[in-house]
Amino acid sequence: GHGRPDGARGLRFTPVPPNVNDAVTVPAGHAQGVVIRWGDPILRGAPAFDAENQTAKAQEGQFGYNNDFLSLLPLPGERGRQVMVANHEYTSEQLMFRGYDPENPTREQVEIGWAGHGLSVVVVQEERGTGRLTPVVRHRLNRRITATTEFEVTGPAAGSPLLTTSADPTGTKVLGTFNNCAGGTTPWGTTLHGEENINQYFANGTRATDRRYGLPTGVTERKWERFDRRFDVALEPNEPHRHGWVVELDPYDPDSTPRKHTALGRLKHEGAEPRLTADGRPAVYTGDDERFEYLYKFVSSKRMRQGHSRAARRHNLTLLDEGTLYVAKLTGDSPEAIDGSGRLPDDGEFDGSGVWIPLATGDVSHVPGMTADEVYVFTRLAADKVGATKMDRPEDVEPSPRTGRVYVALTNNTDRGKPGKPGADEANPRNLNKHGQILELMEDRNDPSSTTFAWRLFLVAGDPADPATYFAGFPKERVSPISCPDNVTFDPHGNLWISTDGNKLGSNDGLFGVATRGERRGELKQFLSVPVGAETCGPIVQDRRVVVAVQHPGEVDGASVELPGSTWPDGPGKLVRPAVVAVWREDGRDIGV
Ligand code: FEO
Ligand code: CA
Ligand code: CA
Ligand code: CA
Repeated sequence: GHGRPDGARGLRFTPVPPNVNDAVTVPAGHAQGVVIRWGDPILRGAPAFDAENQTAKAQEGQFGYNNDFLSLLPLPGERGRQVMVANHEYTSEQLMFRGYDPENPTREQVEIGWAGHGLSVVVVQEERGTGRLTPVVRHRLNRRITATTEFEVTGPAAGSPLLTTSADPTGTKVLGTFNNCAGGTTPWGTTLHGEENINQYFANGTRATDRRYGLPTGVTERKWERFDRRFDVALEPNEPHRHGWVVELDPYDPDSTPRKHTALGRLKHEGAEPRLTADGRPAVYTGDDERFEYLYKFVSSKRMRQGHSRAARRHNLTLLDEGTLYVAKLTGDSPEAIDGSGRLPDDGEFDGSGVWIPLATGDVSHVPGMTADEVYVFTRLAADKVGATKMDRPEDVEPSPRTGRVYVALTNNTDRGKPGKPGADEANPRNLNKHGQILELMEDRNDPSSTTFAWRLFLVAGDPADPATYFAGFPKERVSPISCPDNVTFDPHGNLWISTDGNKLGSNDGLFGVATRGERRGELKQFLSVPVGAETCGPIVQDRRVVVAVQHPGEVDGASVELPGSTWPDGPGKLVRPAVVAVWREDGRDIGV
């Protein structure tokens, strides 16, 4: 029949069943198109992608590798156009270069890797009557940020002796950004980007602080230290301290110097998503994605200025320089022990209260035995000292624009409860947690600058047939299976959309929508799935389209150019290419209505 699929407004589509298709699979009645792929030219003079003749010079003008976070910003005055900003988290040389020898990368291959990292700004054009987007090549705002672009270090730790190197004795000018994972879009029209697994780029990290951040003690897998001394900690001990920050980009000014914000702390930042207080100060939520790491919040002491005047923009670019950095401590409210099975406590919910513990305000440290500079540069150690709650890999964090509730994706933690490791608690209630959970955080008085909050688990992910799962109390026979929530965003109707990375249920990763309010709260539906080996990233849900970044397609054990795990999107005989995809309705109507 032709019955309209039911669901909350914005989620009326027929769910995509779990599958292992080497394709992007979308609901019936929907169409899709690649927006842009790795290697597509965006800057003036950049050549078309040529898999067999790649050069660093070409890559510097082309869309980078492994697209992750995406932002779409308005472009007033240019009809039907938006500014897309994309993260390029990392490069996968085995899937980029035929005959790649990981023991002996060439200088050209390494420099292509440098140019494939970073960010892209590319203006996109909407097709009339559909949701399709195509890049506007050579637009004046198009830009590449790479491993060699200059950044300004801002905030209280700028110029610290912990940040100086032989190339930059001022400790304020850093080349490049690496491993940008999720991010955020600010209400003042800039983008934020989390520098995540920066440890992998730096060789010979033998100090205790290096170990706390996971640097290799010897050579790196990438071997970049052979080509630039800054990647060798033995030669440049402070260079790793210059990465692991939240960076801010003004995509409307192609000549602007992007910034690294020390006030938000140094950790494996997944993303950074702001919400304004009633008096206009941004609070930025950010997770540290590693097992047993923490959830953080920065609250600015400065108020956003309205409008787009030069003075307002200049002021707003300083909002993240002054304020207080906090880390979260969560306490469950159930008297009985949490046994690690995922069985709900007697009060029917995994829930409780929490406090934001201050770590530093400007130049003042709140952590005994650490200076403010040390708190910002070695934020993980500061959080250890104050007894913050060790979480199941905090990934993306997203405040609801409708309700102010904050949603934290905790992707998994297969070490929870292992010998010598922390066991389950009410916020992280499953030992050997393969599938992850989503936590809902309510700031007291719904004030983003509050230092106390309430929380509950919104979803405990997995196969709904598994009793150790929970979908906000919604009947489980009516939800899609989900595993390893990662990036999260909201649609125009207030539904939460969740992309996954590392599905442990035997099917490909995907994108899911779920109502957070009303009778259908907890009704989770899968909207799309991505090709073999890929994770789903950067979701954006607009009225007319859903946009996702398909990251690392074909990345399966032992994969190479010669033995690809996927042939998406260009088919057999072509290199697999990470790409951004738009999905829209064939009947031209809004998504999910
Ligand atoms: Fe780059 Fe935490 O995912
Ligand atoms: Ca409880
Ligand atoms: Ca991620
Ligand atoms: Ca997000």
